[in-house]
Amino acid sequence: MKALVLAGGSGTRLRPITHTSAKQLVPLANKPILFYVLEAIAAAGIREVGMIVGDTAAEVEEAVGTGDRFGLAVTYIRQDEPRGLAHCVLIAREFLGDEPFVMYLGDNFLVGGIGEFVEEFESTGVNAQILLRRVPDPQQFGVAILGDDDQVVGLVEKPKDPPSDLALVGVYVFDTTIHEAVRAIEPSWRGELEITDAIQWLFDHGHAVRAYETTGEWIDTGKKDDMLEANRVVLESIEGDVEGDVDDKSQLLGRVVIAAGARIESSVVRGPAIIGAGTVVRGSYVGPYTSIGNDCEIVESEIEHSIVLEGSTITGIRRIDESLIGRNVAVGRSDGQPVAYRLLLGDHSNVGIV
Ligand code: DAU
Repeated sequence: MKALVLAGGSGTRLRPITHTSAKQLVPLANKPILFYVLEAIAAAGIREVGMIVGDTAAEVEEAVGTGDRFGLAVTYIRQDEPRGLAHCVLIAREFLGDEPFVMYLGDNFLVGGIGEFVEEFESTGVNAQILLRRVPDPQQFGVAILGDDDQVVGLVEKPKDPPSDLALVGVYVFDTTIHEAVRAIEPSWRGELEITDAIQWLFDHGHAVRAYETTGEWIDTGKKDDMLEANRVVLESIEGDVEGDVDDKSQLLGRVVIAAGARIESSVVRGPAIIGAGTVVRGSYVGPYTSIGNDCEIVESEIEHSIVLEGSTITGIRRIDESLIGRNVAVGRSDGQPVAYRLLLGDHSNVGIV
C-alpha cells in the first residue's frame, strides 16, 4: 500500500494567507495540517508517499523534506496547475505502479487516524473505498447518492440540492482500476478532472465501491473559521508542558504549552493554549484555544480563540477574538492626529472593527 498526498491547489478561500504560502502548511497548535496527515499515514503502516505539489512546491518540500522524520519516503510529483483531484492520480501513475493506495487531501484534518479504514479495505477486497460523514452543509462537498436500500449508488460534486447529508471526506483507498477511470472521464464544468466522476465511473462499470461512514471529527480546513475550529480540536487534547520562562508575576491556568525559549512576563495564559519558541508575552492575556507561533511579541494585549503565525507582533490591542493572523504581521495602536485607523492590508484581507 502506498499513499498519494495532495498538497498543490490554490487555496483561494484562505487568502491572503495563501497568497504567499501553502494552505496545507497553516499550523494547528503550531504544527502544519500536512504533518497530521503524514503522521496518520505513517501510523497506518504505509511508508511510500507520493506528494502532489504545485506553485508552493518549494515551501512544502522545505517543510517535509525526505519524509524520514515521519518514518516515510516522500517522492514529489509536480502538477503544473490545479487540474483536479483525478488529474493528481493521472500524473502519479508511474509512482503508484500497480499497488493499491490511500489518497489523502493535504488540507483535511481527521481525528482518529486511518488505520481501521485501510484495514477494512484490505479485508473486503473491494476496488475502492470512500469515507463519508454526515454534515449540516453538504452543498460544499462531494455528496453520496443513496439507493432504495440506503446503499451508496453514486456521488455528486458540490450539489446545489444535495441528495443526502453524507459528505465525502478527503481520504480514499483505490486499487488499480482507478487508473482506467481517471483516463476515461472528462473535465467538469469547472474545468477539473473530478475524483467524484472517476468513482462514479467505477460504480457505473460494475466495480465494487465500498462506503465507510465515520462519526469521528473531520474538518476540511479551507476557511478561517474551519482553521480555528480544527485548532480548537487539537488544543482540546494537548498536555500542558512548560519549558520556557514564566516570571512570578504571571499565571498559567489549565493546560498550557510554553515552548523552550518563550518568555511570559506579567501575563495570564489560560489554556488550552500554546506559545511558540522565542515568543514574548508581556502584560497580556492569552485566552483559551489560542496558538501563538514562534518569535512573536504579544504586548499589553488580549487575545483568544485565535491563531497567530510566526514573527508577528500585537501591541496594545484589547481584545482580539476568532482571528487568524499571518506571518510577520504587525498589529498595534496608531498615535498622532487625526485619530484614525492606519492600515496596510494585503489583497483579500478581512478586518472587523468595533
Ligand atoms: O475536503 C473534502 C472535499 O475535497 C470532498 O468532499 C470533495 O468531493 C473533493 O472534491 C474536495 O473538494 P475541495 O473543493 O475541498 O477540494 P480542494 O480544491 O480544496 O482540494 C483539496 C486538496 O487537494 C487541497 O489540499 C489542494 C489539493 N489539490 C487540489 C486540486 C484541485 C491539488 O493538489 N491539486 C489539484 O488539482
